Amino acid sequence: MEQMTVNLGQNSYNISFHTDFNGLCAVLEEIGAPKKLLVVTDTNVLGLYADEVIGLLKRAGYDAVCYAFAAGEENKDMQSVLGICSACMEHKMDRSSMILALGGGVVGDMAGFAAAIYMRGIRYVQIPTTLLSQSDSSVGGKTGVDFRGAKNIIGAFLQPKHVYMNVSALKTLPKREFISGMGEVIKHGIIRDEVFFEYLSENTRDVKAMKPETLIYMCRNNCRIKANVVELDEKESGVRAHLNFGHTIGHAIESAVNFSRTHGECVGLGMIAASYIAEQRGMISGEELERIIDLLDSYGFDTRAELPDFDKIIEIMRSDKKSVSGTLKFVLPVHIGEVKSVCDVRDEEILNALEFISM
Ligand SMILES: NC(=O)c1ccc[n+]([C@@H]2O[C@H](COP(=O)([O-])OP(=O)(O)OC[C@H]3O[C@@H](n4cnc5c(N)ncnc54)[C@H](O)[C@@H]3O)[C@@H](O)[C@H]2O)c1
Ligand SMILES: [Zn+2]
Repeated sequence: MEQMTVNLGQNSYNISFHTDFNGLCAVLEEIGAPKKLLVVTDTNVLGLYADEVIGLLKRAGYDAVCYAFAAGEENKDMQSVLGICSACMEHKMDRSSMILALGGGVVGDMAGFAAAIYMRGIRYVQIPTTLLSQSDSSVGGKTGVDFRGAKNIIGAFLQPKHVYMNVSALKTLPKREFISGMGEVIKHGIIRDEVFFEYLSENTRDVKAMKPETLIYMCRNNCRIKANVVELDEKESGVRAHLNFGHTIGHAIESAVNFSRTHGECVGLGMIAASYIAEQRGMISGEELERIIDLLDSYGFDTRAELPDFDKIIEIMRSDKKSVSGTLKFVLPVHIGEVKSVCDVRDEEILNALEFISM
């Protein structure tokens, strides 16, 4: 079994890479999972993979039941988390019991949050099934829900006990979700690893064709990059901010277009805008900017878009929970494979960058 460790002292855990779910019970045994398990999923993944996973667990002697909430970000709320907690009570889960989060980022964030608060904290395992969750949300221990229109405003840090990646689960993912997830994958290349960036350029066809060995390689490199950043900064006070590359403008666009574009699509535009600001400052060359745009284009990202009023986008950026007293923090590339955080980007530079990415 291929696996890597996320080194966080007492909170350390392994991420393993697979092409099916058959290795799950061996992993659970290795981490000393209890007999009582609650598999948390959503109504889409329920029909795709829950039977198989529950079947495997039961045959191995686990007392496993499944709880599914309605799929979609609009259900990422306290109500759903309380639903998970109720299922824990009905299944008579105690402090030694464990939650398995089977699904995308919404499932992982909510199952993780329920694990953080049920009986003041029980263990959980991530089994991510979207590219976004395999490349980003399942690693790092951030859990939570949206509240009163604010994304992830209530939550907790709780690291999982294991992350089980089955890349074959991506085969049923809608194409748009797959592309959206590629946004975070490409981001990891730009912020930390030029060789990985090149790999993504040279293997576009195999990635899109979802060749298992290509997906495993991609997933492993992704997780290594995300894990390295999390290891240096578990609670996001320093370098973890680098993961925000493309997100300052990306988040604002996402909200300005009322979420009609996916997160990844907006991050793609945000990465181009941030790279343009860096290029205008002489931090990266025009050729590097082109390489970034070309890579996104080759994976099917829009590299330009119709944008609403620029002032509105800037206003949203200032009200983002990651801006400190209205000061905008940007992550800009120094070259492909390295970024730095800056706080002195002027409105004029942002306006020019928005112009650059607009139709
Ligand atoms: N915790 C973190 O560090 C972190 C990081 C990034 C994003 N997030 C969160 O992740 C969430 C987005 O994650 P997401 O994009 O995975 O969303 P999601 O969980 O809503 O999944 C997207 C859609 O794909 C469906 N789906 C899941 N797996 C599938 C499969 N294998 N085949 C077919 N359909 C499948 C889901 O039911 C859903 O409809 C957001 O809420 C975001 O805030 C968290
Ligand atoms: Zn993101």
